[in-house]
Formats: sequence, structure tokens, C-alpha cells
Amino acid sequence: MTIASLDINFFDPVLIADPFAAYEEVRAAGRVVWNGAMRAWMVPGYDDCRTVLTDYGRFSNAQYRDREKVWWFEDSNMVMVEPPEHHRLRNPLAPMLTRTAVARLEGHVAETVEHLLEPLRDGADRFDIISDFTMIPTVVLAEMIGVPADRRDDFRRWSSTIAGSLAYGLEDPETLGAMRQASAELRLYLAEEFERHRQDRPDDLLTALLDQPADSRMSDPEIRSAISVLLLAGYDTTAKLMSNALVVLEQYADQRRRAAADPGLIPAVVEEVLRWCGVLHGVLRTVETTTELAGVTVEVGDMVCTLPAAANRDPQRWAEPDRFDIDREQRAHLGFGYGPHLCIGAPLARLETRVALQTLLRMAPEYHLTDVDYGTAWYLRGPVRGLLHAATVAAA
Ligand code: HEM
Repeated sequence: MTIASLDINFFDPVLIADPFAAYEEVRAAGRVVWNGAMRAWMVPGYDDCRTVLTDYGRFSNAQYRDREKVWWFEDSNMVMVEPPEHHRLRNPLAPMLTRTAVARLEGHVAETVEHLLEPLRDGADRFDIISDFTMIPTVVLAEMIGVPADRRDDFRRWSSTIAGSLAYGLEDPETLGAMRQASAELRLYLAEEFERHRQDRPDDLLTALLDQPADSRMSDPEIRSAISVLLLAGYDTTAKLMSNALVVLEQYADQRRRAAADPGLIPAVVEEVLRWCGVLHGVLRTVETTTELAGVTVEVGDMVCTLPAAANRDPQRWAEPDRFDIDREQRAHLGFGYGPHLCIGAPLARLETRVALQTLLRMAPEYHLTDVDYGTAWYLRGPVRGLLHAATVAAA
């Protein structure tokens, strides 16, 4: 058997700015392609990615159980384990994150967005698409979990220090020191919050987790780990989806104008952005048992890196996949993953992004962007800097 191999460095900033040509090289090389630079098998096809992400018996998340590299979780959480243990750690959170449950937050999300975009409405001609937008998921998540307003800035700082620096063991010592400090502060803070919640019982997600019946209740360290995972998974991702959408809509002015005139089109914009240039570009799995994948033998312990952004442009699934088109027939994409670890926060991310775009397009339908910089994050790809200029500001 000849093994297809391509040593692509996905962390090259030039490639991060535009990775799609590289994905086509992978697709042309084969269905399962060895990458010596990342020491993983790359999987670019839609059906093959679904196989890997569904078949947790053969392809697990064991890489997140390596406590040397993933040290910031105090105990197990849903990301680290497979069914049936996965159900025990995911099910208590699931009811609070369904579409119906998060729909109740819409008014609050809209208020948060209006408040954060106030400077634009009041005539400011520029807005930072990352530092201002990241406040939206932080405020919403903090509120949902039950973090008081005066601790939100700390909460955002801990989250961005940990989530923004993840390199699974490759962090430099200074970054690692800052991450450890942030993680210790977050842990201490959560311990205080547990006490406050046990006494005051505010109506929020943390109280609901502490109130689970004894037979399904997670331990305190497991609850702290669950909160940390929400914090790490729910903030950078959503802000980057919002800013990716702004970059795309600037490019496709006719579709932007239609969405600005008819907010009913915005859910289709969000889905097409998730397909065309979603946030998560690499989703890893560990081979549990030597097996065949699309005719290639992968050995126990090997890493497999599914490429959802490549799969979302698979020509076998989408006609003219490279065309951004909000009118295309909607078909399930992999922007939120697939299988048992499918993103639990997808309804919330969709809601927040829809409301943010709706409000922003109403206030600044003819915006343009400058200084957009994609930085060095490939797994979670999206601008890390960028300024939005309102041009003409529409009446609020
Ligand atoms: C646009 C925003 C988001 C994107 C693109 C995104 C993407 C993803 C993807 C691709 C996965 C699957 C990872 C895997 O299979 O290993 C995932 C899992 C997860 N996401 Fe999201 N996510 C987003 C927002 C959120 C939000 C807002 C939250 C929390 C409220 C969240 C919480 C989680 C959790 C907890 C998991 C792990 C689920 C499990 O292991 O069962 N995500 N996300």
C-alpha cells in the first residue's frame, strides 16, 4: 500500500490567512493523507469525516485525557470521554442549551448586542470586530452560568488567556505561566461561586447543576470542569464566527445588502458562513484499535485530524462548493462537528451570531473592514484583529 503524504504546516500565517488551496491539495492527494509536520492523518472528505467523528469505538478523544498536555481541567468532562460515560457528563447540561432553552435568552442577547454596539449608533465610525464582539459571548455565557456583572472582566480575561493560547504542550514557558495563573484564579473563583450558589440559589445553570438528583449529580470537580469547558469552547469560537461572517459579507456586497434589508435571511447567512469558512478547521481523534480507514491502515495510538472546513467544501456533497451562496439548498455541514461530541452550544452560537449580525447590519449596512489579521490560530480560525468602519450609520 502506498501512503499519500503531504507535510503541510497549518500554523504558517500565510496559510492561516487562506487555507482552502491547501485543503484541495490534500483532497487531490487522497482520502486519508499522512502529515509528517503535524504527525497526524488528515481526512478531508465529508463522508470520511463523519465516519471518524461518529465511530467513537475506533476513533476516540483520548488525546484530551493526556494530563501533561491538557492540564487545565480539574476532572473529567464531556469532551474527554466517550459514551456511556459521556452521557453522564453531557446530559445534565443538555436541557439548558437546547434551541428552546436558549430562545428565552434572545431578548437578553439583543440588549447585550445593542449595548455593545452603542458607540456605533452614537456615531463612532469604527468598532473592533474582535475585542468588542468577544464581549457578546462572554456576557451571555457569564450571565447564563451566573457570574455577577463585576466579575465578568475577570471571567473574560481567564477565558481568553487559556483558550487563546492553547497549543497542547507546545506553549512557551511565559504563556504557560500566564495560563496556569488564569486557571488557578478561575478555579478559586468557581469554588467561591459554589458557596454563593448553595446559599442564595440564583436561577441559573450552576444552581441547576448543583441541584441535580443524587443519582445523576456530577461531583464538584466535575461541575467545575464542565463550566471550564463551556467557557473555553463557547467564547472565542462564537466571536470568530461573527467576525468571519463580517469578512465574508464585506466581500459579497449584494448578499449583504439583501440580508440587511431582510433579516429573515440572516439564519441562512450564518449557516453558509459555517459551511464556507467555519471556525473549527481541525478536529482530532485518537485511533483506539488498528483499523482501516478509506483503504488506509491506521495504527492504534495514531492521531487522525478531520478537516471540517475542507469537508464543508467537498464537491461530492455540494455543487460549486467554493461559491458563497446564501440561497443554496441547506444541507447538514460539519461546522459544529458531528456524532456524540456534536457542539452542545450550537443553538446558542447561532442565536448570538444571528442577533449580532442583524443589529450590526441595521446600524452599519455599508461597513468596511481594515487591518484584518488572522493571527496564528489554525484550529480555531478567524480574525484576531480587525476594525469595522461604519461608513454611513443608519438610524437606530
Ligand atoms: C460558532 C461557535 C462554535 C463553533 C464553531 C463550535 C464548534 C464545535 C465543534 C466542531 C465541536 C466538536 C468538537 C469535537 O468533535 O471534538 C464542539 C463541541 C463543543 N462545543 Fe462548540 N462551538 C461553538 C460554540 C459553542 C458554544 C457557544 C458553547 C457553549 C455554550 C460550546 C460548547 C461546546 C462543548 C461543551 C463541546 C463538546 C461537546 C462534547 O464533547 O460532547 N460551543 N463545538
